[in-house]
Amino acid sequence: MRKRMYQIKKTEGRAKRAELVTVHGTIQTPVFMNVGTAAAVKGAVSTMDLKEIGTQVELSNTYHLHVRPGDDVIRQLGGLHKFMVWDRPILTDSGGFQVFSLAGLRKIKEEGVYFQSHVDGRKIFMGPEESMQIQSNLASTIAMAFDECPSSRATREYVQASVDRTTRWLARCKAEMARLNSLPDTINRQQLLFGINQGAVYEDIRIAHADAISEMDLDGYAVGGLAVGETHEEMYHILDEVVPHLPQNKPTYLMGVGTPANILEAVERGVDFFDCVYPSRNGRHGHVYTAHGKLNLFNEKYKLDERPIEEGCGCPACRHYSRAYIRHLLKAKEMLGMRLCVLHNLYFYNHLMEEIRDALDEGRFSEYKAEKLAGFEKMT
Ligand code: GUN
Ligand code: ZN
Repeated sequence: MRKRMYQIKKTEGRAKRAELVTVHGTIQTPVFMNVGTAAAVKGAVSTMDLKEIGTQVELSNTYHLHVRPGDDVIRQLGGLHKFMVWDRPILTDSGGFQVFSLAGLRKIKEEGVYFQSHVDGRKIFMGPEESMQIQSNLASTIAMAFDECPSSRATREYVQASVDRTTRWLARCKAEMARLNSLPDTINRQQLLFGINQGAVYEDIRIAHADAISEMDLDGYAVGGLAVGETHEEMYHILDEVVPHLPQNKPTYLMGVGTPANILEAVERGVDFFDCVYPSRNGRHGHVYTAHGKLNLFNEKYKLDERPIEEGCGCPACRHYSRAYIRHLLKAKEMLGMRLCVLHNLYFYNHLMEEIRDALDEGRFSEYKAEKLAGFEKMT
């Protein structure tokens, strides 16, 4: 019998405290995956830094790494872990979403997507098999299925046809991943595959899709196509409806979400994996998270402020530097300013997840959540 990789340690309502055992170590969930799209977290953050700020999982993108430097290059260099010097789990997104949001002219066909590289305009084809082959070359811990994320404004007819195709693509992803994992020269022959639920805001389409993919016995399940323009309430409602239709004995991943408040709400609804560019993107703009809302360090009022970004924060920025100094660095466009803000924000997210796990362990998540949300009032 196959060893149980995913184990639920504790539940509180629908919220789960669990762990996922992988070849690159055990992931404690709920977890926030730190986004390093092109094998680097933007803001001059190294993998040594990631360890220092408590990162469990790094996330990179199939599309970006395929375009540059090329997954063949990374494979020849021993895979993404060796390339970027990171020995903990890596999740790679499949390319589907990035093709739709970044690439130039594209054409979606049954076999896959024809598009132009955003780097050099080169014509590229990516389908389920190509996405799995690229992710196998990268040798990430968890590969994501190749999906289409239809626009939140797409018609019901379009969404239904798209979701049906995504289901057919998923079957092809599963077959191709099994084949790749059986090859003797595959770098990570235990690569996991997560399926992705789609259906835009159409509840019945999402539920039918969740039921269909649940039968495919994948290693985990993601909810995609959210945080793409719908309201927070719509997103929470979809999670209320869809998560119970995904296997409870597998990890649940909410893609691309979100604010600290979004994360608390989604944990309550049974989600255990998250990723989002907010902490790194906001950090690069001098916007830093605190328990009482976000600060804009460019603001004049921090000119003489000798306090750290947040009192008591254990991040490298707060342990050493003042708001006034970091503000100066940002104003002077010194790279260090950005870097310190990104380190603080990622530490903030990783630490939030640690507190969520502790609260779940101790059966006090619901009080913890209410307390945190009250503090975040001002945070968007
Ligand atoms: N990242 C955020 N949303 C999505 C999605 O719907 N699909 C994929 N593949 N990645 C995402
Ligand atoms: Zn800090």
